[in-house]
Amino acid sequence: MIIKQKVSDLMNAQIKSEFAASAQYIAIAIYFEEAALPELAQFFYRQSEEERMHAMKFIHFMLEAGAKPLIPGLPEFKNEFTSPAEAVQFALDQEMKVTDEINNLVTTAVAENDHTSNQFLQWFVTEQVEEVDTMTTLLQTIRHANGNMLLVEDFVLRNPQHAVAADGGAT
Ligand SMILES: [Fe+2]
Ligand SMILES: [Fe+2]
Repeated sequence: MIIKQKVSDLMNAQIKSEFAASAQYIAIAIYFEEAALPELAQFFYRQSEEERMHAMKFIHFMLEAGAKPLIPGLPEFKNEFTSPAEAVQFALDQEMKVTDEINNLVTTAVAENDHTSNQFLQWFVTEQVEEVDTMTTLLQTIRHANGNMLLVEDFVLRNPQHAVAADGGAT
């Protein structure tokens, strides 16, 4: 295979992380469905799709590079949230964790002289800036709304660029 074993192992860990993020975002979408906040639910369903696509990106790259992708078992997920702010903060923390993982992957790829993987990973470096920004903005909007979640619903509806940028950036 053209990529280094260490990098391949970390990519398999990342596949798990991306599928886990995808499932976790469905759990958050369900929380918003139950709270009768359908725009926020849709927002998280879209995020979930995007995370699945991130996992698939790693799978396709590894196959192309002659590495063996492994489909992981998934961890336990958080299904209960006490407030919209808590749910979105949880999502933001998850994005920060993924950003660390991607940075660690890049560091390892460079240390291993694996520039094939390094170049592939640069897309994810850029993508994480957008992911963290989107979630940070949503959290700030929830704080501004000061309990009136219908204002946040309106914000999500009026800001399709978040969804479009997310989808567009992901393809
Ligand atoms: Fe992701
Ligand atoms: Fe993400």
